[in-house]
Amino acid sequence: MPIQLIASLFLDGPPPWFPDPYRLLKVGAAVGAVALTKWYASGRRNPSERNMHGRVVLVTGGTSGVGAQTAFELARRGAQIVLLTRQPPSDPFLADFVGDLRARSGNQLIYAEQVDLADLHSVRQFATRWIDNAPPRRLDMIVLCAATLTPPGRPRVETAEGVEMTWMVNYLANFHLLGILSPAIRAQQFDRDVRIVVPTCSSYISAPKLDADEVIRGGDDKDWTPSKAYARSKFALMVFAKAYQKHLDAHKRPDGLPTNTRVVLVDPGYARTPGMTRWLTRGSLWGLLLYVLLYPLVWVLLKSANSAAQSLLYAAMDGSLGRGAGGRLIKECMEVDCARRDVDDEEVAKKLWEESDKLIERVEKQQAVKRAKAKKEQEKRDEEAKQAAQIEEIEALVGAIKKGKAREAKAKEAKEARTPPKKNGKKTKSGGDNASSSHCHPVFFTDKLRRQPPFRVSANPHPHASPVAHGYVYQDAPRGSAKSAGPRL
Ligand SMILES: NC(=O)c1ccc[n+]([C@@H]2O[C@H](COP(=O)([O-])OP(=O)(O)OC[C@H]3O[C@@H](n4cnc5c(N)ncnc54)[C@H](OP(=O)(O)O)[C@@H]3O)[C@@H](O)[C@H]2O)c1
Repeated sequence: MPIQLIASLFLDGPPPWFPDPYRLLKVGAAVGAVALTKWYASGRRNPSERNMHGRVVLVTGGTSGVGAQTAFELARRGAQIVLLTRQPPSDPFLADFVGDLRARSGNQLIYAEQVDLADLHSVRQFATRWIDNAPPRRLDMIVLCAATLTPPGRPRVETAEGVEMTWMVNYLANFHLLGILSPAIRAQQFDRDVRIVVPTCSSYISAPKLDADEVIRGGDDKDWTPSKAYARSKFALMVFAKAYQKHLDAHKRPDGLPTNTRVVLVDPGYARTPGMTRWLTRGSLWGLLLYVLLYPLVWVLLKSANSAAQSLLYAAMDGSLGRGAGGRLIKECMEVDCARRDVDDEEVAKKLWEESDKLIERVEKQQAVKRAKAKKEQEKRDEEAKQAAQIEEIEALVGAIKKGKAREAKAKEAKEARTPPKKNGKKTKSGGDNASSSHCHPVFFTDKLRRQPPFRVSANPHPHASPVAHGYVYQDAPRGSAKSAGPRL
């Protein structure tokens, strides 16, 4: 049958329903080109594996994009993951996310700790809690995936502490975190292969030089643009990462062994992540519409988060990176050279380090004063509220007493009004001289018991006759006294 078909094709040409071979060739070439572009844009797959069981990994930005994919892959291989998230672990969305990650990876050792990287105090709180642990907690890896960017055309944003947001989250928070965690990193046992994975972006190549003092001091930058701010923050992070490796190398371990911690810089390539979508859409609805329309193009040209995570996984697991010098740059799962020489410039690194330290010190002092003031004011407000509550309570008590007294006086008046007048026109004192209200049994004041006696009592001429006989009050006069003598029921 196939021979017959081929023979007929060869002898009689293609049947009329068969598409034009030239057009077929064109379509095939187009599909092939798209597939080839997609394959090329997706980048290389990570070829390295490593047993991650029992290893403790801190991940920032592990709730989205490349960071989430990296956290998942490391968890799948058995690592204990601590996600450093902006939200508290009690946040329902975060709890759902962690639950889902645990279910998908089959690993229950995934936790979340709140660290807002836009807040130096929050970073310090977490890091000091971590290093305060004695003996030092195990720490095998830190993956610094968190990053932020202001969409193009949007104004400059500052953190509540007054530092430019991109500089703060992408660079300064990482500087602060690694600075405080340094003792915990250096205290790791000699046989551990500790790694600090620092994602960067190829936009660092176009970053302006770091000699603009006002930028690294966190001050105002006259010609600020979102792309420049992002590129500069990534470049600064790279300069710091290299300097941090030198700082670790310079440490003399008590056991005399060389450092076992290596910083690895990673360029994951451009990927379709929430961060990139925000950038492409400029954070606007029109941008989003255009993005949806052009999505096929975006799909072909940009990596998936999983493809972008491959270089990070390589940096986390490749054996060769655990030996030799640290501070290498990985792109497409292989070592590449940095495109800028000043990444290794010690003068720039020193200046950046010193200015960052100064900036953190200044901001933390300001914030500490603010917090102390706010605490004092809160205490004052609490004290005032407490006093107001006490005054209210006392007033309520006084009011109740006044009401009680008024009721008592009213009852007394009513009682006196009910007492039959004396023959000489004066009202008789019920129960005689000692029949004051304090001697009257209160039960007889109730309407229920206020009734006529079931028998007729002749008018009592005796002035000290017991009023009980009239069914009004019980006279609690002292027994045996001359005044109490009188007819009793
Ligand atoms: N995507 C790319 O094309 C590309 C290209 C080159 C380099 N990179 C680098 O790869 C890394 C991951 O990028 P991505 O695109 O996957 O990022 P992404 O989707 O934008 O996610 C950013 C992550 O950072 C977290 N984050 C932001 N601000 C934070 C804060 N103040 N405190 C704590 N966490 C905060 C976010 O947490 P929430 O979930 O709470 O918002 C989120 O998990 C970044 O370092 C980026 O620079 C990405």
